[in-house]
Amino acid sequence: MTDDRSQEAVLAQYASGQEMGRLSATPKGTLTRLRTWDLFDRFLPAPPARVLDIGGGPGIHASQLARRGYAVELLDPVRAHVDQARAISAALTASGPIPPFESRIGDACSLPYDDASADAALLMGPLYHLRDRDDRATALGEAYRTLRPGGRLLAEVVTRHAWLLDATSKGRLGDPQVWIDVEANVTTGASEAEGSPIGGFFGYFHRLDELVDEVAEAGFVDIQLVAVEGWAWLLGDLANRLSQPADLLRALQLTEAEPSMLGVSPHVMALATRA
Ligand SMILES: C[S@@+](CC[C@H](N)C(=O)[O-])C[C@H]1O[C@@H](n2cnc3c(N)ncnc32)[C@H](O)[C@@H]1O
Repeated sequence: MTDDRSQEAVLAQYASGQEMGRLSATPKGTLTRLRTWDLFDRFLPAPPARVLDIGGGPGIHASQLARRGYAVELLDPVRAHVDQARAISAALTASGPIPPFESRIGDACSLPYDDASADAALLMGPLYHLRDRDDRATALGEAYRTLRPGGRLLAEVVTRHAWLLDATSKGRLGDPQVWIDVEANVTTGASEAEGSPIGGFFGYFHRLDELVDEVAEAGFVDIQLVAVEGWAWLLGDLANRLSQPADLLRALQLTEAEPSMLGVSPHVMALATRA
């Protein structure tokens, strides 16, 4: 990260360790997790590949990949996340024949991994928080450097209209300050951690064309965009649908790459190959 303010905002945002519950505490979080794991199953190279989980947070995805037989290594700047990931790894290993995955503190913009040493890189967090385009280029360049030729990138962003849709679905647009914040967010892509009714998130909301441009500028080829949650996060009865999610997941697979529907998804993933 280029400036101290960005780094401080990210560290402060996650210091409580609450990120740990995000992918299971709510129907939306469960949807994100189920869809992400479905994308892993279909778009990662087969295990036992070496996967770098860059910005891996508390290790929910890394532990799933370890269970699947991948050699995972997690990196995150937040001490609480690295501690949580180490604890999950230790518990997994204690409960069965799963080798531990390594977790370390670090920054996506300066990776401690050798050139061309990984089969896949997950960048599912850093691009949400690197507001400066040069920083995002550095992070994507680092992922490119560490991947072997033919290695796979899964790079996720928060989409430009996610907050507008969220605030609308929660009936919050009548608050004049919320409207000012949402309008600024849609116009610039930036969001602040403090001083805003919709705040609590220091980050950047991508337009899809800029995501493609950024991944291509880093040298990646075969770029494809897929929706993570798609339109399903807006369903009023999402909790019921998730009690038997097979039909919902099948419908999401069918529409996940449809360009006219991508922007409604709060997260979109760029799938790409290192040339
Ligand atoms: C919303 S969490 C996502 C965690 C996990 N990847 C997932 O998909 O559930 C975003 C993560 O990105 C991490 N992050 C933010 N800036 C980063 C950077 N410059 N380098 C590496 N990780 C970063 C945060 O610490 C946080 O753990």
